[in-house]
Amino acid sequence: MTHLDPTAHHDSSLPSTTESGAPRESDAHSLSVGADGPLLLHDVALVEKLARFDRERIPERSPHAKGSGAFGELEITEDLSQYTKAGLFQKGAKTPMLARFSTVAGELGSPDTWRDVRGFALKFYTGEGNFDIVGNNTPIFFLRDPMKFPDFIHSQKRLPDSGLRDNTMQWDFWTLSPESAHQVTYLMGDRGLPKSWRHMNGYSSHTYLWVNEAGEKFWVKYHFLTEQGLEFLTNEEAGELAGSDADYHRRDLFDAIAGGEFPSWRVEVQLMPYDEAKDYRFNPFDLTKTWSKKDYPRIPLGRFTLNQNPTNHYAQIEQAAFSPSNTVPGTGVSPDKMLLGRVFSYPDAQRNRLGTNFNQLPVNRPLVDTNSYDKEGAMEFLHSGDAPVYAPNSFGRAYQEAQGPVDNGWEADGALVRSAYSLHAEDDDFGQAHTLIREVMDEAERGRLVETVSGALSTVQEPVLSNAFQYWKNIDQEVGAAIEAAVKAGLEEQVPGADPVDE
Ligand code: HEM
Repeated sequence: MTHLDPTAHHDSSLPSTTESGAPRESDAHSLSVGADGPLLLHDVALVEKLARFDRERIPERSPHAKGSGAFGELEITEDLSQYTKAGLFQKGAKTPMLARFSTVAGELGSPDTWRDVRGFALKFYTGEGNFDIVGNNTPIFFLRDPMKFPDFIHSQKRLPDSGLRDNTMQWDFWTLSPESAHQVTYLMGDRGLPKSWRHMNGYSSHTYLWVNEAGEKFWVKYHFLTEQGLEFLTNEEAGELAGSDADYHRRDLFDAIAGGEFPSWRVEVQLMPYDEAKDYRFNPFDLTKTWSKKDYPRIPLGRFTLNQNPTNHYAQIEQAAFSPSNTVPGTGVSPDKMLLGRVFSYPDAQRNRLGTNFNQLPVNRPLVDTNSYDKEGAMEFLHSGDAPVYAPNSFGRAYQEAQGPVDNGWEADGALVRSAYSLHAEDDDFGQAHTLIREVMDEAERGRLVETVSGALSTVQEPVLSNAFQYWKNIDQEVGAAIEAAVKAGLEEQVPGADPVDE
């Protein structure tokens, strides 16, 4: 792990020093004029210590602030070389990796067990550059256009005046954005409260592209299936843990790995031949939809195991920068509009959060050398010596371009528009959410769904409350009616005098 952790050492026989390396006389006492006298500006050790402390915080991730992770290894056990030439996916390949799990809406110190989607971010340090899959524990998302993403996150965070979280604001956004129905149903079901990060699946959610040696293309969705088993918390357990141990999931992963219990996930893919995308019954690039497993069964590819805890959370987890823009030859992005928006947003956020040269940090640095004409900026330390600073140049010193056709692209033409996708046969906002309720959930989970949603709606104001009843009836008439009845029964109980008791 030296690549990732070049400076980690601790030896208490070493001298305490200032940051310029001089011996520090005391870690406890400032320099003063007499024991009760004033402090001195030239006390470098004190000034430096306070100034450094004043600058310890960097911005937290805008969404997904609270999380943690571990290092591990991806091993490919099956031969899918007919679908991709990517080195990391060839049978027998072993690739070092980092995983980070997170909640979405909560801030850095928020409880791990609040109901939320969980982030599932993977970075693979391959021989062809870093390859990242920045997914969630759900195979779909609330939206299909990145234009709405900042509004969505605002509605899940805090009110502008009181700074409070607010159910009315959350449900207002969801009910006025019916494309959210599938993901909201997932979130309000058992998946919204995984027992631990070890007990949940991960999904790329988006459709990506694979290209084989012959240049043939396939659409691909990645699935990471927990080998610990899917397990969930009840609302009561999650509520209690939020109070008693806000770091419950972080602790669980760290303790498991420290104790030699290494969690693992099976890696499987759904593959769609390139030409089938146009006529598939669902738009395969719409992030609010899954591909039916009956149409495109999951194909095993390999397994990853997490076997090494971070030695420094800040350097290796907080400063980690995952991005769907990190692809390698044999892989690519797709026309999913959300994915295309994310390809811009992540490195942009990281330049702001970590600084221009965030890719030089050990945890983000690829194993391969990087050669480009990008240079300088704050904190550049992997400088390129006297390497050329421009291309083309007349002195035979430009780097070799990978000239040739763009093999990981697709065809597109048409007028510029601002609209949703063209509709495929079975595209609508509520159909797959209905299937989830009727075909995936059993009676008991449907009951828990009604309880969870009616609990969440109990503080929601009109007109959002009525919109929410209609939203659930659009998904499933019976579940919607049960939610409405449960909320109304709860509201009647709260109204003083509604149920007068004889004294
Ligand atoms: C984190 C933007 C949709 C999963 C982030 C961050 C930004 C962002 C700016 C913080 C990055 C950083 O500071 O390092 C967006 C935008 C989206 C979008 C603009 C839609 C257009 C999604 C979707 C998924 C997802 C659909 C999952 C399929 C994650 C995860 C993280 C994250 C897992 C945390 C990564 C980590 O552990 O460091 N997102 N996001 N996001 N996002 Fe998104």
